[in-house]
Amino acid sequence: TALLAELGADVIPAVTDLPAVHALSRPTDIYRAYVVDILTKATACEASLVYDSVQSSNTLPHGDLLLPVPRLRIKGKKPAELGAELAASFVDGHPLLQKPVASGIHLPIFFAPRSLPRIILPYIFQREGSYGNDPTHGLRDTSATHLGRKKVIVEFASPNIAKEFHAGHLRSTVIGAYISNLYKSMGWDVIKINYLGDWGKQFGLLGVGWERFGSEEELAREPLKHLLSVYARINALFKPEQDASKKAREEGRDTAEIESQGIYAERNAFFSRLENGDMEAFALWERFRRISVERYELTYARLNVEFDVYSGESQVQTVTIEAVEKLLQEKGVYEEKNGSWTIDFEKHGSKGLGIAVVRGRTGATTYLLRDVAAVLEREKLYNFDKMIYVVSTEQDLYFKRLFKTLELIGRADLASCLQHVNFGRVLGMSSRLGNAKLLSDILDQSRDAMHDVMRRNTEKYAQVVNPDLVAEAVGISAVMVQDMSAKRIHDYEFDMTRMTSFEGDTGAYLQYCHARLNSILRKAEVTRVDLAVHLIDHPDALDTDLAEKQHCVDLLRLMAQYPDVTATALRNLEPSTILTYLFRLTHQLSSCYDVLQVVGAEGGRDVTLARAALYEAARQVLENGMKLLGLSPVESN
Ligand code: ARG
Repeated sequence: TALLAELGADVIPAVTDLPAVHALSRPTDIYRAYVVDILTKATACEASLVYDSVQSSNTLPHGDLLLPVPRLRIKGKKPAELGAELAASFVDGHPLLQKPVASGIHLPIFFAPRSLPRIILPYIFQREGSYGNDPTHGLRDTSATHLGRKKVIVEFASPNIAKEFHAGHLRSTVIGAYISNLYKSMGWDVIKINYLGDWGKQFGLLGVGWERFGSEEELAREPLKHLLSVYARINALFKPEQDASKKAREEGRDTAEIESQGIYAERNAFFSRLENGDMEAFALWERFRRISVERYELTYARLNVEFDVYSGESQVQTVTIEAVEKLLQEKGVYEEKNGSWTIDFEKHGSKGLGIAVVRGRTGATTYLLRDVAAVLEREKLYNFDKMIYVVSTEQDLYFKRLFKTLELIGRADLASCLQHVNFGRVLGMSSRLGNAKLLSDILDQSRDAMHDVMRRNTEKYAQVVNPDLVAEAVGISAVMVQDMSAKRIHDYEFDMTRMTSFEGDTGAYLQYCHARLNSILRKAEVTRVDLAVHLIDHPDALDTDLAEKQHCVDLLRLMAQYPDVTATALRNLEPSTILTYLFRLTHQLSSCYDVLQVVGAEGGRDVTLARAALYEAARQVLENGMKLLGLSPVESN
């Protein structure tokens, strides 16, 4: 309020009382409040309608805020005419807003340059790491019975024990971690669950493999690799039998006989022992699981990911599974077909969902049955408001079936709280990374490739204090940024050379920008506290230096948008929304460096400090965005 008074603005209009207005977490809402006030008076529209109609712009030349005039739903006038009239209702020389000029059916609104450094810089300095967050989003309505925060479960990564950690798991991990960070920053309670593929007939096969090829020594040395190799070896022996069964099925012959002997029989027997709680089989399985989880934890930490719960298919209780089946039966949707229990979704109004086996011919539970039961258990355990599954598009049909099954057992209410967040494939990863079968292999290879790129610049390399640490952080950023650059649904090509380049929109480039901003402050020999104090005591250089340079005004305009960008990101759950913004910010920054020197700036110490404050605020925004994406910003280059 004091700042606004200093700028000569009237007290902030009462529209800030609208629940949708977030003047305390979005600086654009301060400006929006004045715009809404002016437009409400000029049109007699409802303030809330006007507020919803004034969008934040995502291209600077189109203004800071943008009103598509038809959104006001005013009858009897052409939008272009109305736009010109609305423009006329703004005064010249408003302390916060330039007088707009209508453009077609749009009314673009530009912030007054002089107001920008005065409002945006202190705003960011005060909020630091929380700039961009909206802690009120996750709050429960205080009139509701449950006070406090809303709860979201994000289920992601979810690899299969003793199997390859493939690109789909990598993407799930990167995107899931981002979604978790995002919800947390918006005031939600977040529970991160890793739902391991740790149950099913393949564990019967692994058990059989262990009896033949298992080695305690190798398990102790390289547990994940050893389990992979045991599984691969037994699977190779099993393959001819599987092929024979497949062939029989294709030729319309009965497969029962083939599947009742050989490794088939051994596998099924082992899995039955597991499902029936045989102590010895169970102990072995439990050991495999524990060792795997220990290793996963170490590797996820490299991606700044920590799970609250390592759940998994094995953790689902038999009683819950039976309760689900009972409901399916009661609702008349459970059908026996050739010895298996199935749901024919087509019969129940879901075209395209086909028929799913829910309990197999050998009596074994299925992936689907376990998942349905898991939802019910999580409901009891966590009482969540929302649950998000981050899984590849290959399972689109599967998740439709899962949600539909919940509806069929009368739990449409629960199904409506679930969301499948999907993503496309990564092409060429296995061919480019050779025999990388574990997450740690993927990360190691990226780190090493990054280290090679760094070494090529011998001069720079000699100055890096801890090259191993930098290669690790930057190499991992490279993988993650490549993954988050485009919309989730798109497939992308895994390209080590491109992703480890410091040029182009890469993780390495973002890290370089952050390190460079960091060194500006160091070279100017000021601390953040000096700057914060200076902003309050000596705002003059802000007006005369920063507000008069277009590059700098544009940088401030972009910085002002960040909370609007995170709000959009929460709606679409696209990491690329944040990433694209960060690249716009860094491109704007690089055009500032030439015109805005900090050390030795003409105009003396006040100008140096004003510019240092600008760069420091930009660094803060970059840091906040990078952390939201799960990256670890490096301090120096
Ligand atoms: N483990 C599964 C796979 O690798 C992914 C699990 C996804 N989550 C779920 N609730 N089904 O394909």
